[in-house]
Amino acid sequence: MSSVPRLLLFTLPIVFAACASTPPAVSDAASVGADAQGPVGGPSLREAAAAKGLLVGAALSPSHFGEPLYKTVAGREFNALTPENEMKWVNTEPQRGRFAFGPGDALVQFARDNDMKVRGHALVWYQAIPSYLEALPADELRTAMLDHIKAVATHWKGQVYAWDVVNEAIEDGSSGMLRRTSVFAKLGPSYLDEAFRAAHEADPEALLFYNDYDGEAAGSAKSEAIFALVKRLKESGVPISGVGLQSHLDPRRLPDYAAVKRNMERLVSLGLTVNISELDVPVGAIDGDMATKLGRQAEIYDSFVGTCLQTTGCTGVTLWGFTDKHSWLNIPEFAQYRGTGPHMPLLFDDAYNPKPSYVSLRTAIARN
Ligand code: XIL
Repeated sequence: MSSVPRLLLFTLPIVFAACASTPPAVSDAASVGADAQGPVGGPSLREAAAAKGLLVGAALSPSHFGEPLYKTVAGREFNALTPENEMKWVNTEPQRGRFAFGPGDALVQFARDNDMKVRGHALVWYQAIPSYLEALPADELRTAMLDHIKAVATHWKGQVYAWDVVNEAIEDGSSGMLRRTSVFAKLGPSYLDEAFRAAHEADPEALLFYNDYDGEAAGSAKSEAIFALVKRLKESGVPISGVGLQSHLDPRRLPDYAAVKRNMERLVSLGLTVNISELDVPVGAIDGDMATKLGRQAEIYDSFVGTCLQTTGCTGVTLWGFTDKHSWLNIPEFAQYRGTGPHMPLLFDDAYNPKPSYVSLRTAIARN
């Protein structure tokens, strides 16, 4: 991924001025990342969030800890983190019964050093799993799943405030069924119940989430299926605390914000909390020059996050990264689904300068 054109740094104040609802609080954007000071003329995101009792998080990876600005900006801006890959099964139990907690521990230590909360991600997911799971018959797979949950959740007991217990269990498209290609499908639908119960047994204090994408707005097959699933779990007495709406937005087909609000409200009415768990807003498919793209991106951040924050029971927002330098949408395999890049989907540019999206997110937090 190429760097943000230097010219962009000079266009930023113009973009801020163009966004009527976002005050030009970052008046000297070019200097902010470089000297690692807080944004000129305003609080950090975490200061704004703390004033509202909200969590503002980012997916982080210790593979970038060699960059001083990565650590400085992450610690300055966020009061929560999600390990981008380090707590996934393939990394925590690469061979059956052999656990590797080092990279996850490094993130937990970073969180402790910077007074951040950790959201564990993810105990049961059909991706990022070791190949030994594929061959196991159902009874052994069930045992492997329960053993994995117990070992991993016990290791980080008291150090994570929440777990994404099951991630992306529902099929894409209109069927609304559980994902048939998941290795866990052979356990039948009750594998979700068992996974949540096992996580609760291992770490009774942790909040337990179902997490998925494309289920933000009421009315889509995915969001209806998520609602039906978590309603069933809740009504069966399964220890589920909430739903994470990933919110990997695509500006070509943004969710209807009123339908997002309705969806969040009906989830909350079940006795659950909701949060935005993996937000990013790629600009590749937005028409216009770079200033236009970034201005539109800022508007989307403002409106979408505002929708959550205006909903009682929405506890906060986590971004899937924070600097465009390190976004999963720099990987061609994933970028291709968002049109032609560069996607620059986050809050800081490649040099850790705050973008208009940074200011608009902070404004949305302060306003709601
Ligand atoms: C992504 C990571 O960001 C990438 O580094 C990795 O190669 C693939 O997974 N939904 C999720 C996340 O729940 O775990 C995914 O993270 C992005 C989509």
